[in-house]
Amino acid sequence: MAQRFRALLDLCKRRGFLYQSAEIYGGLRGAYDYGPLGVELKKNILNSWWRRHVYFRDDVVGLDTSIITPHPVLKASGHVDEFTDLLVDCTLTKERFRPDKAPPLTFIADKENKSGHIPLTAPDKATAVAWQKLIQEQLAPGILMTLKNNQLLLQVQALTQPDEQGQGGMIAFATESGQPFNVNYHGYVEPDSNSPFLTDSRPFNLMFKTFLDPIDPIDRVIQTTKNHSPDNSLPLREAVDEVLRPSTVYLRPETAQGVFINFEQVVRTMKTKPPFGIAQVGKSFRNEIRLEHGIFRTPEFEQLELEYFVAPWESRHWYNYWRRQRYQWWMELASHPDNFRQRDHSANEMAHYATGCTDVEYLFPWGWGEVEGVAHRGNYDLTQHMNNSNANFEVIEDTPTISADVDGDVSMIPEERPARYVPHVVESSCGLNRAMLAFLCDAFHEVRDDSGKNKPPRTVLKLHPRLAPIKCAVMPLTGKPEFMSITQKVAKSLRRHGWYTVVESQKLKIGKRYYRHDEIGTPWCITVDYQSLEDHTVTIRDRDTGDQERVHWKEVQHVVAKRLMEGEADDLLD
Ligand code: GAP
Repeated sequence: MAQRFRALLDLCKRRGFLYQSAEIYGGLRGAYDYGPLGVELKKNILNSWWRRHVYFRDDVVGLDTSIITPHPVLKASGHVDEFTDLLVDCTLTKERFRPDKAPPLTFIADKENKSGHIPLTAPDKATAVAWQKLIQEQLAPGILMTLKNNQLLLQVQALTQPDEQGQGGMIAFATESGQPFNVNYHGYVEPDSNSPFLTDSRPFNLMFKTFLDPIDPIDRVIQTTKNHSPDNSLPLREAVDEVLRPSTVYLRPETAQGVFINFEQVVRTMKTKPPFGIAQVGKSFRNEIRLEHGIFRTPEFEQLELEYFVAPWESRHWYNYWRRQRYQWWMELASHPDNFRQRDHSANEMAHYATGCTDVEYLFPWGWGEVEGVAHRGNYDLTQHMNNSNANFEVIEDTPTISADVDGDVSMIPEERPARYVPHVVESSCGLNRAMLAFLCDAFHEVRDDSGKNKPPRTVLKLHPRLAPIKCAVMPLTGKPEFMSITQKVAKSLRRHGWYTVVESQKLKIGKRYYRHDEIGTPWCITVDYQSLEDHTVTIRDRDTGDQERVHWKEVQHVVAKRLMEGEADDLLD
């Protein structure tokens, strides 16, 4: 599995989907640049989402709000105080990690009792030697351990497992003196090394804070610190915060807040009312503790978010509706639908604003991972912004839009409805970069050579044609001028539709050219051959079956158009 993922990442780099950002300067961890094909794939995912949610409906409009967000917005939304993850530092490896994602201790128990060994794995022998010194001198002086290559084996006298809250656990290390050396154990260790030498967990705010100020904020901090005396009424930290607050801004951690604060303007300018939605696509930023799996978790990423505003008594219905709708979109584009699933959150997993949440997950090579969340946000956000600004987000009650036959939710319609209410929000929030990674993993397909020549497998990227970066490659059999006239005519007829079409006239054998396009997921190769010169027909080769059909060159655009439309939002458009 790991090998396949490496092969996929290699393909992404080699064929121009994804590059390490600032690679010529040694790269920046967690930062990626999207190459010519990556840009197209990302844009096609976005377009598919936007078409389904905005153009194919009459109840959703678009919006594009500022990334830079002032402090009061995110204070009101709860992000300043509550958008935190727990953070733990490993005092041995100096790694930082999220305890809720960390594994339990690997413990090799001796027969029939609680004693045993803890194996620690270092990246290399020199590091293992340095760790041994650090443990002996600072972290757990006197404990018994052995060193073998890059592994340390720590001797344990007794291990007590923690309770469900992670309390009461203890590792009693065996020592030279016979007196055990105790270390608290909360049920997790540093993920890469199995180290149990950890700090207590503490909350860590994930937002990138910055300052809109012509004066360098560090100068303001220095000045405030200089002027601060012990008898000041405010502690230094609070005094600094107060000085910086007027210029404090954040890079938004989700696109949603921009939608909420514009709710009234959109209702007024578009003359709309619930149930209706606002779609927004754009970058969000989070100072993630652990960056992982390429573009799966990065500090800068893009979100496809839909905030759908409804009457409170219809909210369950719409929550269920959007869970189905969103899964339908994934199913439409998946090559292996079995590798996608929906999973309801348990109460302790939910974000501070949500009363219900279902994730869409994909089975990545390292296990199931969230690619999207559909959340019932209640009226939390609109109410918070009303309470902290002069806005009024109430709407006037209207006739119910759901009827007795949907989901049984009509029981929620109160007999006496209030004249005004603050709408509830059902949100779907999909990570564009994660969607791209999931679709790439889903499409990655290796074809073994059956010639008996022991050749390495070749790759076919079975991306859905609507997602494929290049839709058509037009190939003259040779580069001779007589083939070029039809070649150019076909290419132009396709480009007119806005489909990314390339002309492949290199000297490479036609089969090799096909394979190069299979590798990047081009669904159709159109070949101009000798017969084309006689009857103006060309062949269209299908990426997945290798089948070819011959049609008049003018027909190609119609064949491609029909196939591209197949199955798109049938449930909405039929
Ligand atoms: N507005 C709701 C919200 O932001 P979320 O579950 O925190 O909810 C939604 O994020 C989606 O955004 C996730 O399902 C994931 O696909 C994507 N996402 C979140 N953090 C990410 C990160 N650090 N890197 C890449 N994608 C991320």
